[in-house]
Formats: sequence, C-alpha cells, structure tokens
Amino acid sequence: MDVRGSIGALIRTRRAVRAFKPGMVPDADVNEVLEAARWAPSPANRQPARFIWVKSSSVKRELQELARESKELSAYWDPIFRPDGPSGRVNDLETPEVIAVLADPAKSLTNVHADNGFEWAAAMAIYAMWLRAHSLGYGGVFVQHWITEKAKKILNVPLSWTFLGTFTFGHAAEAPTIDRLPLDQLVSVDRYPGRPRT
Ligand SMILES: Cc1cc2nc3c(=O)[nH]c(=O)nc-3n(C[C@H](O)[C@H](O)[C@H](O)COP(=O)(O)O)c2cc1C
Repeated sequence: MDVRGSIGALIRTRRAVRAFKPGMVPDADVNEVLEAARWAPSPANRQPARFIWVKSSSVKRELQELARESKELSAYWDPIFRPDGPSGRVNDLETPEVIAVLADPAKSLTNVHADNGFEWAAAMAIYAMWLRAHSLGYGGVFVQHWITEKAKKILNVPLSWTFLGTFTFGHAAEAPTIDRLPLDQLVSVDRYPGRPRT
C-alpha cells in the first residue's frame, strides 16, 4: 500500500475549522475518528488516553457555557481573549461533534525523564482524530482553552486525570488559510543552530 502522496496532502491541507454548519455526522464517521484515536501510539502501549463522545445537547450546552467562562477568565489577564480581541471568539461546542480527550496518569511509565508521557499519548490521539476527520471531509479544531477542573466536573471524570481539551468536528462553514515558518527556521542539522540544511 502506497499512501505517501495522499498523507502528505492531508497533512498540509488540514486546518483549524471553528465555524460549523448544522447537520449530523453519521455515527460511522464518528467511530472512524475514534478509531484513529484508538490506534495512536502510547508509551509501552499503555493506552492512557480516554475519550468522551458528548452526544447530549444539555451536556454540550454546559460545555458551551464553560467555554465562554474560560475565555472570560483568560481575558482578565490577556486582552486578546476579550470578545473583540483577536482570540475572542468562543469555540462552538454545540453544532459539531464533541470528543473530550483525557489521560489517566495511573497508566504512566516511571522512568528517568518527565512522567507526562500519558499526556503526550493523548495529544497524538488528538492529531490522529484531526487528520482522520479531515480525510473524511470534515472540519475540526482542538480546543485546549478550558478551566479544566470545571470541565472534569461536567464530564464526571476523576480529578487526577488530565483533561486535555475537546476535539470538535463537523461540516465546515469556513475555509481558513494560514502559513508556517519555513523549514530552515525550524530545523537544525547536527547541532543547534547547526549549518544550513542543504
Ligand atoms: C495544543 C493546541 C491547542 C489549541 N487550542 C485551541 C483553542 O483553545 N481554541 C481554538 O480555537 N483553537 C485552538 N487550537 C488550534 C490552533 O489555533 C491552530 O491549530 C493553529 O492556529 C494553526 O492553524 P491550523 O491548525 O489551521 O494549521 C489549538 C491547537 C493546538 C495544537
């Protein structure tokens, strides 16, 4: 199986889509996205990530209210999060599908370096879901901007778990564009700052 071309295009064209048209995502597609999360790598295959597919409109509404409150709290310190600021838009938690992403520290490894591999694994699952949703023709965005303890309470998850955020996806109502730094500004050869790549 040669997937080189298609994966490259998929990676380059995935965007953070924050505006959604109403419309059901078939359960089969949501399951495909969850499958992508299931197959994400984790330290020693401990599989510390857990996912909550929020289907209930009342739970979604609670999350929506918390998303607004979370932005409002951040705006106290950083004006970019004020309603008229560049990051002031409150993410939509009601129109799209909502997958909350959690990680259980009890499924961590003990080793010589930082012990947050359980969170890294969950982060990889998020990107896997994002790409899979894009490959199915959906737009999506990961939202990390939460007062996490309140989110855990809404979702009834143990306090000790990390709530990474929510991955929302659905029918895109916008097609954002954005750029990246060139590789030369990101990659060093041999040592930092290294020599030119070519
Ligand atoms: C760890 C992480 C946290 C993010 N948190 C938010 C968020 O809280 N709200 C939001 O609208 N977008 C969030 N994003 C989306 C980024 O803003 C977006 O990926 C970035 O601007 C690059 O745009 P692109 O994904 O379209 O390439 C987050 C992305 C990542 C990787």
